[in-house]
Amino acid sequence: MNLTKEEEKMLGGEFGKGTQKAIELLVAIGDAYDAEMMIPIARAHAASSGQEGDLYFVELLASGGAKCRVPTSTNPVYDIEFFHRMFEIPSDEAEVARRVMEAYKRVGAILSWSCLPYLTENVPLFGETVAFSESSATPYVNSVIGATTNREAAQSALAAGVVGRTPKYGLHMKENRKGTVLIRVEATLKDSFDYTLLGQFVGEQIGYGIPVLTGITRRPSTEELINFCAMSNTSGAVSMFYIPGFTVEAQTVEEAFQGDVPTDNITVTEAELEHTWEELQTTSGKIDFVMLGCPHYTLKQVEEVARLLEGKKIHGGVSFWICASATTKTLAKRMGYIDTIEKAGGNVVVDTCIDEPCWTVYKDKVGMTDSPKCAYYRRFKDVVVAGLEDCVEAAVRGKYE
Ligand code: F3S
Repeated sequence: MNLTKEEEKMLGGEFGKGTQKAIELLVAIGDAYDAEMMIPIARAHAASSGQEGDLYFVELLASGGAKCRVPTSTNPVYDIEFFHRMFEIPSDEAEVARRVMEAYKRVGAILSWSCLPYLTENVPLFGETVAFSESSATPYVNSVIGATTNREAAQSALAAGVVGRTPKYGLHMKENRKGTVLIRVEATLKDSFDYTLLGQFVGEQIGYGIPVLTGITRRPSTEELINFCAMSNTSGAVSMFYIPGFTVEAQTVEEAFQGDVPTDNITVTEAELEHTWEELQTTSGKIDFVMLGCPHYTLKQVEEVARLLEGKKIHGGVSFWICASATTKTLAKRMGYIDTIEKAGGNVVVDTCIDEPCWTVYKDKVGMTDSPKCAYYRRFKDVVVAGLEDCVEAAVRGKYE
């Protein structure tokens, strides 16, 4: 790669050991992808977690004096104090999480602990070059906002935040932002759970690629787009997609494919969505807990839960959890939603990912969630996956049938 004088100095250690380690990683990635140069970024989002691999790299940079040069937000870990009060958490696990959170503070990251930073704490602008990791974040930023990012790891995104640059390859180049597969949506998409199933199906079908979706006649809501992004980039590796007319970068199918529209396509009818839904279920009947907020719930979704729970009581045998950002919870509290949910027996937790050891207590229990990503990562004993209304109704009744 051709490096600038400043980048050479970083690589030579003149900006400190931490920055040197960060740029070493970026140069290695750039070399692997035959990138010719680095390009400046406006912001980054590191998909941090309370796990050993993450701890190693962020402490390596922090101990070497690295500081983020551009706004760099963080993914959820868990609210250690809160969960210590609720459950037994092995002390070595809690120590890893504590050290991760401390190290991100030392490198000057925005301590958002949220998987939707692109909505509030660290919002890219159209046309910006950024380095965002996290399943929903990468496709949302590329497709809905129209900034450019590769499908970063926590480490490469943090390194980019420290160096303020990223290697120029992949989705930072127009020719690589070309659609690869045509998806004809014939199913009627009623709500955000249908977008969840659509994302799950598309990711499973195409694996790695850039789908171009046609047949969607109503503008999808923010939550519907988030769900499509999170699920297609979990069941598959979908860093970008097009819904011509609704996503920003291409107004027509031809534009999305850069003139090269494929003759083959994948058709999605109600039958495919139904089959996708059936495949996600491992049980029905009595449930032990409901887990919502993977990705983190928005204010609108928290409001919806409060509305559905108004005047009701969650069944005594069911624990009810919603994960959301601190920003969302603050507003939801102010607006009375948190009081309604807590009065019904539910909990809204901040800073927390469902894929963390704080939930180990539920390992052998039967869970219900509206997120296939949650079901996949938590590997509960058994799981029911259904839309929000069904989750709330089952929480009140203690069972899903
Ligand atoms: Fe967010 Fe963790 Fe789910 S980062 S999307 S709550 S797996």
